[in-house]
Amino acid sequence: MSLPPLSSERAVAVIGTGAMGSGIAQVAAAAGHPVRLLDARPGAAAKAVEGIRAQFSKLVDKGRMSADAAASAGTRLSAVDALAELADAALVIEAIVENLDAKQQLFRELESLVAGDCILATNTSSISITAIGAALQGPGRLAGLHFFNPAPLMALVEVVSGLATAREVADCLFATAKAWGKSPVHAKSTPGFIVNRVARPYYAEALRLLQEGAADAATLDALMREAGGFRMGPFELMDMIGHDVNFAVTRSVWTAFFHDQRFLPSLIQQELVDAGFLGRKSGRGFHDYREGAPRPQPATEATLPLAAMPCVCGDSAAAQALAARLAAAGVRHERSDSADGRIATAGGAALFVTDGRSATQFASERQLPGTIVIDLALDYASATRIGIAAARQCPEPSLREAVALLQAAGLQVSLLNDVPGLAVMRTVAMLANEAADAVNQGVCSAGGADAAMKLGVNYPLGPLEWADRLGAAAVREVLMHLGAAYGEDRYRISPLIQQAFFAGRSLHD
Ligand SMILES: NC(=O)c1ccc[n+]([C@@H]2O[C@H](COP(=O)([O-])OP(=O)(O)OC[C@H]3O[C@@H](n4cnc5c(N)ncnc54)[C@H](O)[C@@H]3O)[C@@H](O)[C@H]2O)c1
Repeated sequence: MSLPPLSSERAVAVIGTGAMGSGIAQVAAAAGHPVRLLDARPGAAAKAVEGIRAQFSKLVDKGRMSADAAASAGTRLSAVDALAELADAALVIEAIVENLDAKQQLFRELESLVAGDCILATNTSSISITAIGAALQGPGRLAGLHFFNPAPLMALVEVVSGLATAREVADCLFATAKAWGKSPVHAKSTPGFIVNRVARPYYAEALRLLQEGAADAATLDALMREAGGFRMGPFELMDMIGHDVNFAVTRSVWTAFFHDQRFLPSLIQQELVDAGFLGRKSGRGFHDYREGAPRPQPATEATLPLAAMPCVCGDSAAAQALAARLAAAGVRHERSDSADGRIATAGGAALFVTDGRSATQFASERQLPGTIVIDLALDYASATRIGIAAARQCPEPSLREAVALLQAAGLQVSLLNDVPGLAVMRTVAMLANEAADAVNQGVCSAGGADAAMKLGVNYPLGPLEWADRLGAAAVREVLMHLGAAYGEDRYRISPLIQQAFFAGRSLHD
């Protein structure tokens, strides 16, 4: 159903004019609304108005806004001192301190003041919309309108419905966010909404890999970027967000899900918080940002010569890309079918894309001592680095041949300890699993989950798009093997992935 957005003549009130409130007020004013700003700190709202006008001037300098538009948007902003001055607002967006009592009290006061059809919205990142709404006589008019930081630049807005939120209210906010040039997605009020829930495995699996000694932080970061196609590696990203903030979000989601193992926080991060190593802002986190500190370098295998003629096997995406890369580099190789799923043979090495088993387990079960598993890449044709692991049974010369083959194809090779599922595959399977559960539990649609992760945290592909590309069978197999390897409920497979597998359908059906 497509409802009209709030008309741009209607006034919008923004309460709390810190980082988020200012950005949201800027967006609303640029979209044509008269915007009233209010903050509890004396002078803060007036300062925010000045700041937003300065932002408009900068946009004019950069040619991204006309001088006329900037001037009129600037005049639509006004700072007010009392709640009573917001009485004519058609929409109030709250962006005050992240505290349930404070938010409930504010909305209680507002309810008796604004018109009956005024929509009340909260920008909370982590508080239940249902719980905030419980303070109201008419909780149907309250919804979450969750912008991302910085609000003027980030396209995603989660429109979050609590148990009592009226459908027309959520629809009107959705249409309004769209009219403001944003990309809204609907979400049900559950811990973390979409982004802060589905993104948890990006950090959690990385922390586990580090804890198990799969590789160091710089190597895992490089793999997630250069093979996984993510904009930032998990450790550098946590260092940027701040470990205090990231750990608090993890704890809050874990607690809100009644300590579900899926969301278990990491002792490694607890240690960093305890030490005050909060990341960039404190000069030190996983990486060292103090002046003169060396940039962390990923572990990369030294270049080795190919001793034997390699053979690329089968026509999987990985095999095709490997053959094309070898051909482009002028490296002679044979081609053959693949009877057992291997993508290549080099000397005594047999290379397989990981299916969630360790190389050692795989080698034992297949009676193939020369087993090498390679990690997932977003695009094997353009990846610049690949992670691999060798079975414990693998003879050293076979491992050297495998490394030489991948290097001949133009890849930097990072040799990981033999952990199940390696880095990219394990992370992507768990992201898809979490997104699938969110969809299965009615939190959002599959398209909404994908859009949220691409727009909210810049993932190169939506987790469910990625899972469809790999196939539900492959994702399920990885998760099954991880579950068997660790014996933990954490890796339980989402019913949506099971359904898609057994029905032979896409996760978007
Ligand atoms: N910072 C982020 O990245 C981010 C992203 C999305 C959502 N959020 C959410 O947005 C909200 C605001 O976050 P922020 O980062 O802008 O915080 P902030 O500390 O920068 O700003 C909060 C502002 O609210 C004012 N304030 C506090 N209590 C008030 C009250 N009762 N009445 C009026 N004003 C009051 C403060 O003076 C301050 O200016 C929080 O709910 C937060 O969880 C933050």
